[in-house]
Amino acid sequence: MTQQIDVFGLKGKTAIITGGASGIGRATAQCLTRFGANVVIADIGEKQGQVTVEEIRNAGGEAQFVSCNVTKAEDCERAARMTQEWYGGIDILFNNAGVIRRKTVVELEEQDWDLVIDVSLKGAYLLSKYAIPVMAAGGGGSIINTGSGWGLKGGDQAAAYCAAKAGVVNLTKAMAIDFGKDNIRVNCVCPGDTDTPLLREEAVQLAVEEGAFLASSAVGRPLERIGTPQDIANAVLFLASDLSQWVSGSVLVVDGGGLA
Ligand SMILES: NC(=O)c1ccc[n+]([C@@H]2O[C@H](COP(=O)([O-])OP(=O)(O)OC[C@H]3O[C@@H](n4cnc5c(N)ncnc54)[C@H](O)[C@@H]3O)[C@@H](O)[C@H]2O)c1
Repeated sequence: MTQQIDVFGLKGKTAIITGGASGIGRATAQCLTRFGANVVIADIGEKQGQVTVEEIRNAGGEAQFVSCNVTKAEDCERAARMTQEWYGGIDILFNNAGVIRRKTVVELEEQDWDLVIDVSLKGAYLLSKYAIPVMAAGGGGSIINTGSGWGLKGGDQAAAYCAAKAGVVNLTKAMAIDFGKDNIRVNCVCPGDTDTPLLREEAVQLAVEEGAFLASSAVGRPLERIGTPQDIANAVLFLASDLSQWVSGSVLVVDGGGLA
């Protein structure tokens, strides 16, 4: 008789996923719950977040939604507190919420700059600030930050986004150094173009036809396609799981070979 082995070590673990109502965050929430984790979706999109929670529960998984704007300290504090109340601790934090504005520094309004930096970079700092003490008290855990290929190289008409994502990459390394002693691993996943509402919204911002934009996003990638949310969720699954127990401060590029 074959025995079922919990290779990922996720059974009974608890994860907070920011931006978990849509795209990469949603696929990751579905993926982690499939392997036995409890997931708290922290997002500003209440309606979509609740739909994702229902989908997970209908599939036999365990999830909760907490309304959380990651740019606000009080929301992040509440998300960490509610998670602890619901599940008794925090083992995994996926700092994934992000927004993009496809503009150069000359075109960007100051509030666009602030929004992109605040959601994508400051949000990772804020939720980590409140989640790490809980995680450390529980014996450690795994934090995964969502960077981007454009955190490692520049891109056109995306100045604030490139700056925010480069910040996320080095924030990851700083956090890995500071909290290794607490048995907390901190890693970064850097997706290439992935088929989500955010990518499709870029076509709108650039005023180009969506189909042509998605097709052009695959050009130059050795694997000749754009990513699916599941492609990225699989990488996060690895970084969240016991299979990556000695991996910290690393940057995992998941982009069909685009940066190769
Ligand atoms: N899709 C891509 O091609 C791609 C490539 C590289 C990196 N990324 C990054 O992946 C992450 C997820 O993006 P996605 O493509 O799944 O986009 P998405 O738009 O499908 O999902 C983003 C989620 O973040 C939430 N969100 C936005 N602002 C928020 C805030 N202030 N507080 C809490 N939640 C907020 C949205 O409500 C949404 O549910 C982002 O950090 C993005 O920059 C995406």
